[in-house]
Amino acid sequence: MITHMRRKSEHLVLAGMLKKLARRIGAHVTLEPEWNIAGQIRYKNGLNRYFRYNTLDLNPVGASDIAKDKGYANFFMRRMGYPTIPGKTFFSDEWCKAIESKRNIHAAYRYARRLGLALSSSKSFPVIVKPNSGTQGIDVALVRNKKEFYRAMRAIFKHDRVALVQRVVTGKDYRIVVLDKEVISAYERIPLNVVGNGHSTIKQLLAKKSREFIASSRDTRIKLNDPRIAAKLKYQGRSLVNIPSRGEQVFLLDNANLSSGGDSVDVTKQIHPAFKKLAIKLTRDMGLRLCGVDLMVDGTITDKPNKYWVLEINAAPGLDHYVKTGQAQQKIVENLYLKVLKSLAK
Ligand SMILES: Nc1ncnc2c1ncn2[C@@H]1O[C@H](COP(=O)(O)OP(=O)(O)O)[C@@H](O)[C@H]1O
Ligand SMILES: [Mg+2]
Repeated sequence: MITHMRRKSEHLVLAGMLKKLARRIGAHVTLEPEWNIAGQIRYKNGLNRYFRYNTLDLNPVGASDIAKDKGYANFFMRRMGYPTIPGKTFFSDEWCKAIESKRNIHAAYRYARRLGLALSSSKSFPVIVKPNSGTQGIDVALVRNKKEFYRAMRAIFKHDRVALVQRVVTGKDYRIVVLDKEVISAYERIPLNVVGNGHSTIKQLLAKKSREFIASSRDTRIKLNDPRIAAKLKYQGRSLVNIPSRGEQVFLLDNANLSSGGDSVDVTKQIHPAFKKLAIKLTRDMGLRLCGVDLMVDGTITDKPNKYWVLEINAAPGLDHYVKTGQAQQKIVENLYLKVLKSLAK
């Protein structure tokens, strides 16, 4: 419940919007009043549909469950020929014991070294580690040495018994949202960063950014003491007390999730038709109707697909990434949810 409470304002925005939009199509939304997260949509023809925050009655439960498990989802996507990121799952000590596996944190480290060294001849071995069933970029870390690797893996194993070690891929990070046979939204995601003004420290700039997120009730958590931020700054020869020059952009995280403070740039109108086709096909191939397809593109999404990777798929994508930035954006988001409400009745 803690996370539900922390994000209550966000839930209220979404729930309130669904309530209002349902009325337009003659449907009625009943919200469970204590937490305002769970709701029932009653359509004119007597059909009932349900939702719990971003989880709507659109996707089958089997496909949704596979989508939530990055290891499983990668297996099926790879088998169908989609370019997934090379990687492997490893288990917490407890889970290793339970399933009698030797794929523990030390085996993970040996794998990471091989994976990293295959790519770079330097002492550093960047690899990505992440919880197998994570969301919102929580505990996703780019690690460059043994110490960072073990710290990040132990953090993962506090909440997930399965961790994924992956190759680092580079490019532009995009989210494409598919509803049935249509791309309803697409945007680039840029990792948490601050832009200097010549006199504030990174810590001050970050605190300011944090306050702005809270003021706009954005569902974002930035922890000033996040070890990933410290590691990323250190790698750049900086620290939180460093003062960037005016206009200088400093990146603080390697994951581009909006939930961890990333920025979004809408590309719905610019996305190349071949990328649209690909996202729609992938959604269908994974048994989903509503899906957030996350791609890392070497190049840009406005060009024909050349080199790209499927980062992951999301069966319960939020559609409100720009809900708070203005009236026009509010309209766009409302139209997206109206489409979803109509699709739910099918
Ligand atoms: N292998 C990778 N190489 C480079 N960046 C990655 C990699 N895996 C994840 N990322 C970055 O971290 C973000 C979150 O990773 P993801 O696997 O989608 O986890 P989550 O489910 O928490 O969003 C991605 O959107 C991307 O920006
Ligand atoms: Mg993601």
